[in-house]
Amino acid sequence: MEHTRWYKDRVFYQIWPRSFKDGNGDGMGDLWGVLEKLDYIQSLGADGIWFSPLYPSPGADCGYDISDYMDIAPEYGGMEAFRKLLAEAHQRGMKVIMDLVINHTSDEHPWFEKSRRREEPYTDYYIWRPAKPGGKLPNNWDSNFEGKAWTYDDVRGEYYLHLFAVKQPDLNMDNPLVREEVKKILRFWLDMGVDGFREDVVTFISKEEGLPDEKLPLPTGKGISHYNHGPRIHEYLSEFYRDVFSHYDCMTLAEAPMVTPKKALEYIDEQKSNELDMVIQFETVCADCLFTDWMPMKFSLRKLKRSFSRWQKELDGRACNMIYLENHDHPRVISRYGSEKFRVESGKMLAAAYLFQKGTPFIYQGQEIGMTNWRPDSPDKYEDVQTIWQYENTALRKSDEERLHRLWRSSRDSARTPMQWSAERHAGFSDVKPWFYVNKNFRRINVAAQEEDADSLLNFYRKAIALRKRLDVVKNGTYREFEKNSTQHYIYSRETDSRKLYVICSFSRRETKFKCPAGLDTDRAKLILQNYPKQKPDILKPYETRVYLME
Ligand code: NOJ
Repeated sequence: MEHTRWYKDRVFYQIWPRSFKDGNGDGMGDLWGVLEKLDYIQSLGADGIWFSPLYPSPGADCGYDISDYMDIAPEYGGMEAFRKLLAEAHQRGMKVIMDLVINHTSDEHPWFEKSRRREEPYTDYYIWRPAKPGGKLPNNWDSNFEGKAWTYDDVRGEYYLHLFAVKQPDLNMDNPLVREEVKKILRFWLDMGVDGFREDVVTFISKEEGLPDEKLPLPTGKGISHYNHGPRIHEYLSEFYRDVFSHYDCMTLAEAPMVTPKKALEYIDEQKSNELDMVIQFETVCADCLFTDWMPMKFSLRKLKRSFSRWQKELDGRACNMIYLENHDHPRVISRYGSEKFRVESGKMLAAAYLFQKGTPFIYQGQEIGMTNWRPDSPDKYEDVQTIWQYENTALRKSDEERLHRLWRSSRDSARTPMQWSAERHAGFSDVKPWFYVNKNFRRINVAAQEEDADSLLNFYRKAIALRKRLDVVKNGTYREFEKNSTQHYIYSRETDSRKLYVICSFSRRETKFKCPAGLDTDRAKLILQNYPKQKPDILKPYETRVYLME
């Protein structure tokens, strides 16, 4: 089947189902709620949806611990709601992609239950090892979430590997039977009409033979050099492509921690690769940290720009960039790269900074209204497994206040509070008490208020997306960056023979001197998008953004 690469013309909206909209009055988001809000998503100009996992799950990692891959969790509305949603989305011309989590399952998945009892053919579905002499762990790898990557199972009398939570045992992808199971899952959803998958940490699925100790002196994540882009990863991904994806006009988007553009091209080069379509790289969301949000640093605009530009350049003409600023794994971008004080201004500037780049943009629920990091008064309120472990085990010598600040700054829960639909009770998310805390700022920051205001951030997103769709130069233009060394401005252009688009972004909270980039004639150019009513020729206001078009 021909791969039309339809994803290149789309804008995706990411739904993290628990916190999007409660439709059945139990305090948890669900597909009935999504159905109510499909028009809203469409009104943004989004024509694709990525659902974080909707499958049955014990919820140890908010659905990324799956106990049944071929069903929809009853709390989300079950299969009935999903089929309806899929039909309604398709009727509106929207594509729907699911989250595929195949590096691990839940420990409550029947495969694991059988594997720990050594029931065939499940015995080798997971990665089991006896203790090393002296009762030592099988190797020195770390879990990315909680402590070491090995947990002893009394039933089996062996350790199992879990690169994430204890309740997320890693599948043994070297076992051909496991790969056949994956293919069955893929076909099941694709045959139902799903348009593709976001593949959770898929670059981790092939572990190096012998599971050697990590030799690199890593402060965290020991083992990663032996399982990220592991020895048989290309073989497995090509197999999935050959046996399944090549038979559908679908898309695949792979989460790829620590990937460089060069490495990414091994998977997504359109000329060469028959593996994946796009990758989620982490550089863009790590301009204020070292490797992970839990190692915060001062925000560096130059780091962010270097990342933006190298992905734009190195993938150009070879593969499609997935562009994003937020998802369910990172705190809110305004609280990080922008300013809560200049929330609307910086929110608009950040939108312009990425929405005019080349690639397929993703917007995470709430980003479009400028939701900010949730700021609870006590660490007990956090739910996320990774956050709880980090809190209990790191930065112990800091004061309580500093530790709470670290949570605000680094936790995934900062961006997982219920969507703020209105100023009404529970932010219009639900009629009853929601499963998680609502950010206290919901009366000020919500969809309903921004619908009323032509100048709102929400309407800015709509305008930017509409421009993106209308202007061929955004789709095809060459990318060029100006003032590369500036620590205040990010300026880029997109150019075709007949048109030039200039995007000016100030990341400064003060007024700064503005010098027109080469080729931009502000007398001739049309200002097509801005976040202040009046512009000064040689000054940029705090977080000012302007988009000029020259024809
Ligand atoms: C990446 C997902 O985005 C994250 O939410 C999840 O916790 C881990 N993978 C483990 O599945």
